[in-house]
Amino acid sequence: MKTYIDYAEISQAARRKITSAAVIPRPIAWITTVNENGSINVAPFSFFTMISPSILMVSFVQIKDRRKDTFENILRSKQAVVNIGDISLIEAIDNSSITIPYNESELAYIDVNLGPAKQVMAPLILEAPIAFEVEFLSHEELDDNGSKYDLTLLRILASHINSDLYDSEKHYVRLENPLSRLEGPKYGSSTELEYIRKF
Ligand SMILES: Cc1cc2nc3c(=O)[nH]c(=O)nc-3n(C[C@H](O)[C@H](O)[C@H](O)COP(=O)(O)O)c2cc1C
Repeated sequence: MKTYIDYAEISQAARRKITSAAVIPRPIAWITTVNENGSINVAPFSFFTMISPSILMVSFVQIKDRRKDTFENILRSKQAVVNIGDISLIEAIDNSSITIPYNESELAYIDVNLGPAKQVMAPLILEAPIAFEVEFLSHEELDDNGSKYDLTLLRILASHINSDLYDSEKHYVRLENPLSRLEGPKYGSSTELEYIRKF
């Protein structure tokens, strides 16, 4: 037996719960940007994926027509760093989603170290095993039943990978203990990887 749900007949909150419980696991872009006053903004986003080898997609939801600070910073500076965390960073990633006034930094609430990027002003989070320097490519404002989303494409300029996780001859990356977002406050981990095909 199946329960049939017509999306025209349920609330947006119900749609979000159902879709985000089904489309899992979602990777997490832990994005660093520079605020207008030069302080550093850090926040996690799981409406996130790669759409080609060097293009990433992130969707920022507007709350009461207010855009996310991260998105405002990307629009203004045209750049960011997308850090990819692992399980050891779960609390820092979650805590960095705190809502605070613009131009204040989430870094006051999390214990991480920053390092310089090479091509963009935003810093890397050094504890993240992988980080991408990105530039703004394009943006479209989506209307989903009255909720607005800033769908944003970012082009990867460079990556920083912990050297012990990278085979530079084969370009093989071994991300240990990857972290993902599940429904609501749940996070997922996949410590065991299954190979069904040899490349
Ligand atoms: C794991 C996780 C994933 C999230 N994913 C998104 C997302 O994809 N889009 C979004 O708009 N907000 C998302 N949020 C909420 C933002 O992180 C939160 O609104 C944050 O305060 C935004 O910061 P900013 O305004 O400084 O950019 C997520 C939060 C968590 C904890």
